[in-house]
Amino acid sequence: MVAGLVAVSGVAYSESKAVDTVKERIAPVGKVCMSGEPCAAAPAAPASAGPKSGKDLYGSVCATCHGTGVLGAPKFGNAGDWGPRAAKGLDTLYTHAIGGFNSMPPKGTCAACSDDEIKGAVKYMVDGSK
Ligand code: HEC
Repeated sequence: MVAGLVAVSGVAYSESKAVDTVKERIAPVGKVCMSGEPCAAAPAAPASAGPKSGKDLYGSVCATCHGTGVLGAPKFGNAGDWGPRAAKGLDTLYTHAIGGFNSMPPKGTCAACSDDEIKGAVKYMVDGSK
């Protein structure tokens, strides 16, 4: 009887040990964080941080390409670059910024950004490039 009890508790012990081991094994090793994404900067409370302003989003994400014209991106502050784009209408630019357009990646790689945040950044670039 005693031996049986020991055996049973032994099993229970090794089972919970096994569960712990599995939990450790399946725990995320790290978080993928694209450059420019806010996850690296504020992992603690992203929800309470509120939506990013167009200016902030431009500075943290869009400027990577739109600051210097990477891949042919229209440069911020350059009316010649932005004039023909703006002529398409803001709605078209919003759609292209959110869904992607040629080398322009969807949401400018900021998958975590809301559509409204992206629109704010588009407006900021268009307004700042007249
Ligand atoms: C990886 C580089 C890259 C990043 C980051 C990026 N863009 Fe772009 N974007 C481009 C390129 C390249 C084009 C030009 C595409 C073309 O006209 O073929 C472009 C074009 C645009 C256009 C014009 C689309 C049109 O219809 O003419 C808008 C608007 C735009 N980007 C918004 C944004 C916003 C907003 C962000 C930040 C949230 C952003 N982009 C981040 C590369 C980038």
